[in-house]
Amino acid sequence: MSEQDHKETIYDWIGGAETLRRIVETFYPKVQIDPLLSPLFPEDILPVMEKQYLFLTQFLGGPSLYSDQYGHPMMRARHMPFPITNAHAQAWLNCMEQALVEVGLPKDLREIMIQRLSAPANHFVNTN
Ligand code: HEM
Repeated sequence: MSEQDHKETIYDWIGGAETLRRIVETFYPKVQIDPLLSPLFPEDILPVMEKQYLFLTQFLGGPSLYSDQYGHPMMRARHMPFPITNAHAQAWLNCMEQALVEVGLPKDLREIMIQRLSAPANHFVNTN
């Protein structure tokens, strides 16, 4: 067994695949009614949800599900077609925080998750 097998990850702390599914399923309905975010997303949100589940799995230290299927994530590039401001990043993180509360994640894990997700959210800002 390699050292990797013993590594503790955010993915494990939150409860792995099952919790992450619930987070994604709780998050996107919020995105879809957010006045800033909803216009950016397609009506058929299911494919986005599935990709987000695959991506967050690996982003939080779980198996590399997204890259196995889609190759290098290049997430900033994938977000470039959409005008993303600081306000969008904040709205995205707010929807996520609400979703984490709803799935019952304890405060310490919510803070770790939001801190971890703030970096990419701010990095995806591409316009004023
Ligand atoms: C900063 C605010 C953000 C906005 C406004 C935003 C918006 C979007 C939009 C419009 C799409 C494309 C939906 C489509 O397929 O038409 C998308 C895709 C995606 N976003 Fe975001 N996003 C944000 C932050 C994030 C963050 C922080 C993450 C993960 C850490 C993330 C992960 C993804 C993933 C995995 C996809 C699917 C990529 C693919 O097509 O393979 N996004 N996002």
